[in-house]
Amino acid sequence: MVRYTVTSALPYANGPIHAGHLAGAYLPADIFVRYLRLKGEEVIYICGTDEHGTPITFRALKEGKSPREIVDYYHEHIKTTFERAKISFDYFGRTELPVHYRISQEFFLKALENGHLVKKIKKQAYCEHDKMFLPDRYVIGTCPYCGAENQRGDQCEVCGHPLTPEELINPRCNLCGSPITFKDSAHYYIKMQNFEATLKDWIQKQEHWKPNVRNTVLGWIEEGLEERAITRDLNWGIPVPLEDEDVRGKVLYVWFEAPIGYVSITVEHFKRLGREEEWKKFWLDLDGQTKIIHFIGKDNIPFHAIFWPAFLLAYGRHEDGRWLLPYDIPANEYLNLEGRKFSTSRNWAIWVHEFLDAFPADYLRYYLTAIMPETRDSDFSFADFKVKINEELVNNLGNFVHRALTFVNRYFDGVVPERGELDDLDRQAFGEIQKAFEETGALIAQYRFKDALKRVMELAIFGNRYFDYQKPWKTAKTDRERTATTINVSLQIVKALGVLLEPFLPDASEKIWHLLNIEELRKWEFREIKAGHRVRRAEILFRKVTDEDIIAYIVGYIGKGNPESARLLLEKYYKKEDVVKIARERLGDEADSVLRKIYGGKIEAVDKSGKKEAEKMGYVKFDEFMKLDLRVGKIVEVSDHPNANKLYVVKVDLGDEVRQLVAGLKKYYSKDELLNHYVIVITNLEPKKLRGVESQGMLLAADDGKNVALLMPDKEVKLGARIR
Ligand code: 2FM
Ligand code: ZN
Repeated sequence: MVRYTVTSALPYANGPIHAGHLAGAYLPADIFVRYLRLKGEEVIYICGTDEHGTPITFRALKEGKSPREIVDYYHEHIKTTFERAKISFDYFGRTELPVHYRISQEFFLKALENGHLVKKIKKQAYCEHDKMFLPDRYVIGTCPYCGAENQRGDQCEVCGHPLTPEELINPRCNLCGSPITFKDSAHYYIKMQNFEATLKDWIQKQEHWKPNVRNTVLGWIEEGLEERAITRDLNWGIPVPLEDEDVRGKVLYVWFEAPIGYVSITVEHFKRLGREEEWKKFWLDLDGQTKIIHFIGKDNIPFHAIFWPAFLLAYGRHEDGRWLLPYDIPANEYLNLEGRKFSTSRNWAIWVHEFLDAFPADYLRYYLTAIMPETRDSDFSFADFKVKINEELVNNLGNFVHRALTFVNRYFDGVVPERGELDDLDRQAFGEIQKAFEETGALIAQYRFKDALKRVMELAIFGNRYFDYQKPWKTAKTDRERTATTINVSLQIVKALGVLLEPFLPDASEKIWHLLNIEELRKWEFREIKAGHRVRRAEILFRKVTDEDIIAYIVGYIGKGNPESARLLLEKYYKKEDVVKIARERLGDEADSVLRKIYGGKIEAVDKSGKKEAEKMGYVKFDEFMKLDLRVGKIVEVSDHPNANKLYVVKVDLGDEVRQLVAGLKKYYSKDELLNHYVIVITNLEPKKLRGVESQGMLLAADDGKNVALLMPDKEVKLGARIR
């Protein structure tokens, strides 16, 4: 059986992770490994932070901190962010691990021993003003390949071509801006030309690679490979493991050791598990069964498809077996934000840790998968985010699951009913389930995650159509057997969705499993839910994204980082007075200071008109009143709100579902008084988060300014009875 070694590019520990990173190298890999695990395949998923090189030292300089402080801080930050985004690494390590130093130095020494390295004294970029050698990123200039200006001396951000500082046209010091000089410095170079023929031949055979990856790389190899320095004049990194005066105090080039991190982090992983030898089968060709797959963003292509394989070849044979070359390198393109490139300095970015404060992980995963830049750059747009979540997740998927669970509770007391005779549509439903597993699996295996997710959602669309067509709300009155079959089949679709969604939306999948009350492990295959099994009450799976949520996010997060970017985003969609009103409601006291920065101080006028509008109250038409869905419920659980001392979190039984509400009743009722209390609930009030806890409706109560009294029906009626 095939064994998979899956990696995602090691992010530099020099800043937080943004949505472009997530969509490029982490989410696709995570979907892929979750799928493989569901299929029962042997797979490890390895990642960690890349903690050396000029990206780190630059950041340290900028923040006035030591490189160590920077990497320690961002290692934790990035690790936590990935956990929150539900990226399921088997191990998330770092290149500051001692084992990484050891293995990187071993790679260097082996390459030297095998005659693939050469020491050369060459002119290196030097800044007379800063009195230091300037490694790659410390030099900026014009790209000789595409003419883009202000490119750093390691790689052109515009055309992606790898660069060296000497190649740049009009090179300048990136620290002080002065023109650079060149001074002699000794470095070790890898003779890339030794591997040119082997690499070319190997890449030509990789017909299963994405065309963008294979063609770009072949193009570069056609230009011919040259010696490339793998040591640097830098005081932060892995020391060159030689007693050679010429390179004393110098370090290994970060792009030499970072990919070795994939190996060393795997070694560390198995060491921690007490299975020290096991890393070998994931990196060495022991039985012809292992496939190594590196998920990366497109800027990393040359390093993974040319240099990293060359380093593996330069090592020669490991004593236990031949090093495996990557089986595949699925690289994604870039993600833009509202039509423009992400920019850290302008805070034109969606920072994952911030976005996850405002929206559930599944929403981010859903949207980023739906727009994944698999074959071309794609665009994150707030309007599109709202539409996709509300129409696809909430109205399609959430609605279907909710309907099926509500009906089994309403008509069959929460017990999966026996199926009667099947009609054509029932039979088609089983076919659809089978097809969904096969086709989604095939798409994931081809790294077509966007289409795979679409394929899963098609099953939910089918579910809703099936339900509409079978009309269980009608047949319930006339044909119990028919209703039983409809509900049974619907629950089979729900169960299938519970599995199919797992790679994409792990939280929703978990919730579906919980609602179905199933203990069994999820597997990528269709297994029926048995008649007689008791499921739980329906609960709402997803709530809608509102303009208020988006405004609060843009003002509260993007606005704090860069008011100008927030203004551009807000102006695209919203009127200033709405923004002001909503930001004040949602962000409280801190709103005004941010709003002033965003709108250049002028927000007072908006203030008054906002208030006046709220004071206007006119007649309400009867059909407007009827839009409120008021129902009788019973409180079945009361707990303290974790972040607010005036609020309770209560669960209310509405007959066929249990809702969670947040209520400001602490001053007026004890928990015991509330438990089992009958109440009236507005069930279709837009769900809202109150201090971080979602309230899916509102309890009705009378308030005379001093006391608050809950409303309740004055004689017994069924839970869920409508008030009109
Ligand atoms: O581009 C980057 O963010 C690099 N830190 C990726 C390294 S991938 C691997 F080789 F370690
Ligand atoms: Zn270029």
